[in-house]
Amino acid sequence: MDHSIILNGKQVKVGDISPTMTVLEWLRQTGFTGTKEGCAEGDCGACTIGLLDQGPDGPTWRAICSCIMLVPQAFGRQIVTVEGLASDSGLHPAQQAMVDKLGSQCGYCTPGFVMSLFEATYRSDLDSHWKMDDQICGNLCRCTGYRPIREALYEIAGRQPTDRFSEALDALPEIPAVDYQRGDQRFVRPEKWGDLWTAMSDGPVRFVSGATDLGLDITQRFMAFPLLIDLGLLPGMREISPIADGWHIGAGVLLSDLEAWSETHSASLGKMLRFFASRQIKNRATVGGNLCNASPIGDLPPVMLALNAVAVIRSSGAERRQPFAPSGSDPGFWTAYRTTALQDGEVLAGIEISELHPSTYASTYKVSKRRELDISAVSSAFALRLDESGVVADLRIAFGGMAATPARALKTEAKLLGQPLSQSTIEEAIKTLKDDFSPIDDHRGTAWYRATVAANLLRGFFEEAQGGVRVTLPDRPTGTIFAEKN
Ligand SMILES: Cc1cc2nc3c(=O)[nH]c(=O)nc-3n(C[C@H](O)[C@H](O)[C@H](O)COP(=O)(O)OP(=O)(O)OC[C@H]3O[C@@H](n4cnc5c(N)ncnc54)[C@H](O)[C@@H]3O)c2cc1C
Ligand code: FES
Ligand code: FES
Repeated sequence: MDHSIILNGKQVKVGDISPTMTVLEWLRQTGFTGTKEGCAEGDCGACTIGLLDQGPDGPTWRAICSCIMLVPQAFGRQIVTVEGLASDSGLHPAQQAMVDKLGSQCGYCTPGFVMSLFEATYRSDLDSHWKMDDQICGNLCRCTGYRPIREALYEIAGRQPTDRFSEALDALPEIPAVDYQRGDQRFVRPEKWGDLWTAMSDGPVRFVSGATDLGLDITQRFMAFPLLIDLGLLPGMREISPIADGWHIGAGVLLSDLEAWSETHSASLGKMLRFFASRQIKNRATVGGNLCNASPIGDLPPVMLALNAVAVIRSSGAERRQPFAPSGSDPGFWTAYRTTALQDGEVLAGIEISELHPSTYASTYKVSKRRELDISAVSSAFALRLDESGVVADLRIAFGGMAATPARALKTEAKLLGQPLSQSTIEEAIKTLKDDFSPIDDHRGTAWYRATVAANLLRGFFEEAQGGVRVTLPDRPTGTIFAEKN
């Protein structure tokens, strides 16, 4: 195929580049230096660009971090940088709003903010303050000019002008398959499952989905990969579909799409996703990437455990279902530190989540040093069902950050099952947490801190589940009070 990218409306042929070159590096080498590099790890937003993508309701513009997107991932796709926004008739509304509200001081962060505002211009779902804050919380302004920047966002959010960017939404180019080799590195993006199995036989393989974890192996650890296979184009990977008693969620579903789906389908999942990374990261990061990364402090694994979810694992000619939770001699999906139950030749194709029993109460909590955009010290997800007489009929207690793998507190659960839920049974059960976990000391928290936080989260959850004190977190911290947007 022709290895090109549609950049600011023009097809640009990509020269001889390494398959692990990032879009940011390529842009800057190509002369598009309006896009800045700050951290090169997805944390600051200086490198934000727009990507035309398929959304759940049709084509959509997404703000993404170009510093951790690989150039071959952009082959055949439309991207827009800050240089591509203005037209003969003037600045783009996102740029004009930044000018009108005095949103730029030293200006280094400005192109990134403008591109986050660009996405906001075409969104139709920015209906609350937390979503507005979320839209720009992945962009750092070192001179702290946030207030005028946020005023600029309020000015343009959801405006949806008729222009060449809205017209582009009517004609999303078909994303092509890719097989690109330079030197001893190869990048493959198969569009059929059969092509995946063929490419995998050329192993050793490293899969890539959104590259928000893997990208850091490249930009921070300078790793090279003989064979990278992008799973994003495979049929069904990006779909959420109903099954007999719940939902099948493709492993390639983006976290921003999952968050939107959660608003009406799973409050506990949505609560965890709200405090998960920034808009730019969630616009690339996938469900499968988070679960297969197998981090003990990943935020989705405890939710999978509490929701009793099942991994759908596919290999050439076979599909099997593996519950995330352990059972008997089956260790579950996470078998050891950063290790999953996936065997050679297998990929995670999706997950299945059953509808909760109507009287089940489920919730999630993330504790980190900083509430916004931080890695968890402890993350947790719980689900509880009491029978008519107040006896615990079903209980799942799951934690991240308490052991080498995300894990259920099986002994604590057993202590409470069949018991009436009372102050004394709760306190007695909480003592058992120390038999379930021996957390470690590290820079995110001491063992004592983690154990104490875990006990308090559980205590708070039971209180909340019984309608007592509601443990709520504000949607997002807001420094300034705005009138509700009409
Ligand atoms: C700035 C920043 C903030 C972050 N914040 C959070 C946070 O708050 N909470 C959190 O939990 N994580 C966070 N992350 C980590 C990361 O964004 C998530 O883990 C994300 O879900 C990874 O998804 P991905 O599609 O980008 O994975 P990738 O980077 O593409 O892949 C991750 C790993 O999974 C493997 N893999 C991917 N898909 C599959 C599949 N379908 N089958 C088999 N293997 C597969 C890859 O080979 C790779 O080893 C953050 C990352 C960044 C850069
Ligand atoms: S350079 Fe900081 S997020 Fe990309
Ligand atoms: S305007 Fe100076 S860093 Fe943002």
